[in-house]
Amino acid sequence: MATKLETWSPTSWRTRDVAQSPHWPDTSALQRVENELATKPPLVFAGEARRLTSHLADVAEGRAFLLQAGDCAESFHDSGADAIRDKLKVILQMAVALTYGSGVPVVKVGRIAGQFAKPRSQTEETIDGVTLEAFRGHIVNDEPFEEEARRPDPTRMLQAYHQSVSTLNLLRAFTKGGFADLSRVHAWNQQFVVETIEGKRFSAIADDIERALRFMKACGIDLDRESSLHEVDFYTSHEALILPYEQAFVRQDSLSGDWFDTSAHMLWIGDRTRQRDGAHVEFLRGVKNPLGLKVGPSMTPRELVELVDVLSPENEPGRLTLVCRLGHDNVARLLAPLIEAVRDAGQRVVWACDPMHGNTINAASGRKTRRFDDVLSEVEQFFGVHHQLGTWAGGLHIELTGDDVTECLGGGRGVVEGDLETNYTTMCDPRLNASQSLDLAFRVAEFLQN
Ligand code: PEP
Ligand code: CO
Repeated sequence: MATKLETWSPTSWRTRDVAQSPHWPDTSALQRVENELATKPPLVFAGEARRLTSHLADVAEGRAFLLQAGDCAESFHDSGADAIRDKLKVILQMAVALTYGSGVPVVKVGRIAGQFAKPRSQTEETIDGVTLEAFRGHIVNDEPFEEEARRPDPTRMLQAYHQSVSTLNLLRAFTKGGFADLSRVHAWNQQFVVETIEGKRFSAIADDIERALRFMKACGIDLDRESSLHEVDFYTSHEALILPYEQAFVRQDSLSGDWFDTSAHMLWIGDRTRQRDGAHVEFLRGVKNPLGLKVGPSMTPRELVELVDVLSPENEPGRLTLVCRLGHDNVARLLAPLIEAVRDAGQRVVWACDPMHGNTINAASGRKTRRFDDVLSEVEQFFGVHHQLGTWAGGLHIELTGDDVTECLGGGRGVVEGDLETNYTTMCDPRLNASQSLDLAFRVAEFLQN
């Protein structure tokens, strides 16, 4: 069912409704920033994005698993090396737990080096009769409830770019420069994780891996020459929410003539900006990067098939990942009809599960939190439904941090409501801490194996 589409250009989104747009007070300042960003070097190259698409094609075809993970929102106040390293450690640990437990290769994508913008349910906030713009992430404004802080400031986009550059630079160094070497697998286990059940389980795997490496070496295999033992492919992603920013990074690939959004390898459309005729769908349909589409409980099977058709008109496997975030009490009812509709339309996609965004609750204290058991339940049901339908449960999309935070309840070391205040540092949604993340990875490895 090919949909007739108007000609796409990097600016064609501007004729559409832009959901979730900040109320920029000074459009000429915005224009100046856009012009400046457009002269900057790209963050990623077309060839890298194409390579990720081909890895994701393996996922779409049931030969690999996608792990997409990172912060809900990156912060301008937290740009140091340690936070980046620790997030990477957890993701590498999860990937090892998943691969070791299931034998399935894992494609690693961070919500990192550009994940600065947040869609909001309430676009304004009113306290004591004063109404200000909601906090929309550091790429737009700042958190304190003060007029100056909340006023959208386009120069923040420049800062977001520079922080993305330095984050990505470090990630490239870590993943290609020795830190991700499998012989260092023990070093990814952080001090506060080592003593937990998950940490011990991870240490046991790390011992096994070291033994296997020693064995191969003793057999005369030249391990130094096996680059896959010493470096990992790690890709970046973020929600493509602030379109003036994204447009500034659109470049035409000199090899293929295709357009790429060079702000990240993979970009996704959030559940609040996925209108078929809206600006975000219009913008992303024209760039060749692999795309994600969040699928929330209000998505109908028909709408989904239409969106897949618009976003992946060539039906190339790896092009589109459907990130389902239905909520643990909705999956059983809503997921199967969505999968069946896409399958019956012959559409080739990656199915991933985001068990975070449909399971946010308020604790008695008013803190936003998530129960590990709800998160796990959504993932387990996601695997169950795919198993029944004979389709491939291809990925996990989660919000985590490498810090020992107390933002989600249960799992790992069993955070309880009274612990939430101990170390609650997220700027937006509650994230899994390192041991909860590892706990989840071990369980997902079991689902994968079955
Ligand atoms: C997110 O991934 O941080 C997010 C806001 O998700 P969603 O669009 O699914 O609500
Ligand atoms: Co979030």
